[in-house]
Amino acid sequence: MRHFITINDVRTAELQRILELAEAMKRDLKSGKRPLHLAGKMLGMVFEKPSLRTRVSFQTGMFQLGGSAMFLSNEIGFGKRESVKDISEVLSSMVDAIMFRAMKHQSVLDVAKYSRCPVVNGLTDLSHPCQALADVMTVYEVFGQLQGVKIAWVGDANNVAASLLQTAAKLGIKMSIAAPAKFQFEASAVKTLLTEKPFSGFDLELTDNPHQAVQDAHAVFTDVWVSMGQESEEEERKKIFAPYQVNTALMRQARKDAIFLHCLPARRGLEVTDEVIDSPQSKVIQEAENRLHAQKGLLVWLLNEANG
Ligand code: CP
Ligand code: NVA
Repeated sequence: MRHFITINDVRTAELQRILELAEAMKRDLKSGKRPLHLAGKMLGMVFEKPSLRTRVSFQTGMFQLGGSAMFLSNEIGFGKRESVKDISEVLSSMVDAIMFRAMKHQSVLDVAKYSRCPVVNGLTDLSHPCQALADVMTVYEVFGQLQGVKIAWVGDANNVAASLLQTAAKLGIKMSIAAPAKFQFEASAVKTLLTEKPFSGFDLELTDNPHQAVQDAHAVFTDVWVSMGQESEEEERKKIFAPYQVNTALMRQARKDAIFLHCLPARRGLEVTDEVIDSPQSKVIQEAENRLHAQKGLLVWLLNEANG
């Protein structure tokens, strides 16, 4: 059984195939075609944390592909009302795929262990692989290529950054991550994230200097300083991350044609200014829309090709 729990669950060629399918889904939809690649299929979606993009993209995507999706909240009492084993075996005996947004990464691994159908990670504390698909899709759409492209991550080296780093390594994208020392990836963490030899062209810089990271960058990424589940650290994080705000002065130090990306939701005035996120350089809405096409590409690959 193939699952999609981190980007490392797919090889480079498979990642490229998912992205190719995603672009094909987008082209079809824009030209008024909605091929029913997943007719009659049901996706069970379990959310332990809030969501807008992930929930809407998976549910709309399944509908457009001829299937359906079911939202399950904390009410299923993950590991409390019922054991993880019982939930996974029961749910997967009825649905064709499970998408799980979990507090803990281990929970998604546990569900996959007992599931009889493919499991997709809809975000955990450690990774957000579905977001990374939409991110590189957007960079590709703007620049027409990924080879030779440099992306800069400014802020918390978090779950979204981890998946983007794994994606950059698989596709040969240069990446620089600027984070305060306490919130930067340690060398051992990078080693754990990168399980295979990176694709040619991949080059990683870790720095605490945002100005250095954005030099020559085609895309500047950031994310919230306080992720879901870290609310008790808000005051400390706001102070430490203040010099990492993506503002117009920082964007000016990237390439002239650089774009700004953010997985959203954004805390405007903190990690990014209104001026940047509302500027023509900002492609955050295109990036968010691409979650729909990327999810469709992923589901078609996972259900019809990888496990077909
Ligand atoms: N980017 C993202 O995953 O958004 P949601 O939390 O709204 O799903
Ligand atoms: N890093 C954020 C991403 C939200 C989509 C979080 O985990 O809350």
